[in-house]
Amino acid sequence: MKALIYNGPRDVRIKDVPDPRLERPTDALVRITSTNICGSDLHMYEGRTNVEKGKVLGHENLGQVVEVGDAVDCVKVGDWVCLPFNIACGFCRNCERGLTGFCLTVNPGSAGGAYGYAEMGPYQGGQAEYLRVPYADFNCLVLPPDAQEKEADYVMLADIFPTGWHATELAGVRPGESVVVYGAGPVGLLAAYSATIRGAAKVIVVDRHPDRLALAEKIGAIPVDDTKGSPVEQVLELTGGEGADRGCECVGWQAHDPHGHEHPNMTMNNLVRSVRATGGIGVVGVFVPQDPKGPDKLGKHGQIAFDFGRYFQKGLQMASGQCNVKAYNRQLGSLIHAGKAKPSFIVSHHLPLHDAPDAYRHFDAREEGWTKVILRPAA
Ligand SMILES: NC(=O)c1ccc[n+]([C@@H]2O[C@H](COP(=O)([O-])OP(=O)(O)OC[C@H]3O[C@@H](n4cnc5c(N)ncnc54)[C@H](O)[C@@H]3O)[C@@H](O)[C@H]2O)c1
Ligand SMILES: [Zn+2]
Ligand SMILES: [Zn+2]
Repeated sequence: MKALIYNGPRDVRIKDVPDPRLERPTDALVRITSTNICGSDLHMYEGRTNVEKGKVLGHENLGQVVEVGDAVDCVKVGDWVCLPFNIACGFCRNCERGLTGFCLTVNPGSAGGAYGYAEMGPYQGGQAEYLRVPYADFNCLVLPPDAQEKEADYVMLADIFPTGWHATELAGVRPGESVVVYGAGPVGLLAAYSATIRGAAKVIVVDRHPDRLALAEKIGAIPVDDTKGSPVEQVLELTGGEGADRGCECVGWQAHDPHGHEHPNMTMNNLVRSVRATGGIGVVGVFVPQDPKGPDKLGKHGQIAFDFGRYFQKGLQMASGQCNVKAYNRQLGSLIHAGKAKPSFIVSHHLPLHDAPDAYRHFDAREEGWTKVILRPAA
């Protein structure tokens, strides 16, 4: 089959690779009709992880089941399914508690497995014609009859809609509160969208790309352009000088200033200053335990100079980590089915798989108009 593989920094290619097959009786095989490029893929694309050469990328996958193993009970051939980017067993100590992003058995020696991702186990990704899904009964979200009609919405359940929601959950967003989101990439936009669904009275989104800020405005958030002055000052001005009740970090350790210089602590310290005393911060942007190519000494060891004194003085709370997609995907899917959520508002491109290398280039450059790409391998 054709698949997109990592060949080195800023070098991804379409190659013929062996078709995946059922390896265990609990597996299913899915023909992939939609698979997104994610901001997380860009960390690998830019050579900032140790992902192995030849790995098939792609962790935001949706398609139709073509084969199931003997031990698969509920998922049937022909079902349309969306796969959480986390691969989870369902029976370990963390899965039992709904913390499927930290499954203890699928990637032994580590907590958490995923398709097509650095350090997340031996699993190939879905930017390909077919995907092997382990523990299919647990990992497949079987979609309702409008699966194909709303495919561009449902595929966002694989990662970024639940992840945006997770940011608001970790931050503790409640109805009537004000929320500031750093980053207007797909994750930040869906965090802002989730905050609105949760009843936030005011949602503020910080970035510098006009097309992304325009999407934030379109869903009723207040855009803050950090090229036009300190984002912290702008947020304080919009919140009566106090700061927002809640803050979401949707950028990660490759945060940079508008000139492109990386400062891994930039969004974290801006959040500490933009959130009001006793408020909450949810961090879903990725931070890594080591970054040999990082811009500063601390960063190489996965550390940041964090404004802990101010954080303590303000009595802030913070939580972080990978999203446990399964904790939210069924309910968020019901909102899509009922017509109450339409996360596809961020999608800019639907492209065939063979255009993927080009799409990576454009999306990586955060070019105007490239907000989210859906690849259609088997459509
Ligand atoms: N925790 C999880 O489960 C999970 C899941 C998916 C993605 N992620 C991570 O979330 C992050 C965002 O993903 P994405 O797909 O939206 O990526 P993206 O790269 O498309 O978006 C990031 C946005 O942040 C903006 N930005 C950069 N520096 C900034 C700064 N200092 N202040 C404000 N904005 C700034 C960029 O302009 C860009 O628009 C990535 O780190 C990704 O790896 C985490
Ligand atoms: Zn993703
Ligand atoms: Zn588990």
